[in-house]
Amino acid sequence: MPAGNSKKEVRWSEAETDEFAPLLSDKEFHRLSSLIYDIWGINLPPPKKTMVSSRLRKRLKALRHPSFQTYLDYVLSPAGRQQEWSHLIDAVSTNKTDFFREKVHFDFLSRNLLPRLAHDLRQSAGRILRVWSAGCSSGQEPYTLAMVLAEYQNQNPWFSFAITATDINNQVLEEAIRGTYDDEILNPVPKFLLCKYFMKGKGNQAGYHRVVPELRQRICFQRVNLMDGNFGFKSAFNVIFCRNVIIYFDQQTQRQLFHKFYSNLSPNGFLFLGHSENLHGMEDKFVKVASSVYQCKK
Ligand SMILES: C[S@@+](CC[C@H](N)C(=O)[O-])C[C@H]1O[C@@H](n2cnc3c(N)ncnc32)[C@H](O)[C@@H]1O
Repeated sequence: MPAGNSKKEVRWSEAETDEFAPLLSDKEFHRLSSLIYDIWGINLPPPKKTMVSSRLRKRLKALRHPSFQTYLDYVLSPAGRQQEWSHLIDAVSTNKTDFFREKVHFDFLSRNLLPRLAHDLRQSAGRILRVWSAGCSSGQEPYTLAMVLAEYQNQNPWFSFAITATDINNQVLEEAIRGTYDDEILNPVPKFLLCKYFMKGKGNQAGYHRVVPELRQRICFQRVNLMDGNFGFKSAFNVIFCRNVIIYFDQQTQRQLFHKFYSNLSPNGFLFLGHSENLHGMEDKFVKVASSVYQCKK
């Protein structure tokens, strides 16, 4: 952190106003975007500079850094690595999500895949369906999965499932674990599912609903960087959802990730990507079974 000499103190009392607008130079943006690419795989081309500098201004202000230069020196120091990297990725990652986003995927899962997957699992006694929501953001995707799977379980009581939901962003993970959403966010949830799987807030929680504990318990939330070499999961997954995540990665990073998904899928397991994403050049390992849904060949 910058030393607290009197010149800087004066500068900071001015900086507390909204006029505090340190400039991010092209060179500083390059240093920052290279770090973000190396550690989290996120590709930030030059047009993203304005977005990055405006999102990071709050961090500079909170840490009382007078410029991006001093902030970057701190970020790249051993102390910055320990204390600031998680804030940095929280600030720059994009977390847009929704309940029942790209709904056809959930329809395809419950109508076409679940009967098959459940049948296969039933043959191998004692096994449960394992699903991974990779890049789960604030939880809307894994809770949607949990509702779909719980509905299937209601019809087929012998069936069971477990969901692992991971993200790199601590803030959204905390929201996901809490499982409390305002009513507007819950608009895409069908009324009968809302009544069954959410508790209505009262008093100062009016206008919010919280996921019931029985559903929350079905999901294990974890912080995982998809760039890590080995995720360390004990068992393979039958289904992986990784939607609207790889869009921020370049092709080389995407391919490395697809190989890791392949290793973490059980034989004939399924990978769901976002609708604008696809598995280029992985035809030897995956076959397309529906729009942006792939089955692994093993
Ligand atoms: C746009 S959201 C998508 C959320 C959800 N899958 C959906 O489709 O609605 C992308 C998420 O990927 C996460 N993410 C980005 N890079 C990541 C990485 N290297 N490791 C883990 N998560 C990452 C972001 O933090 C963000 O929450």
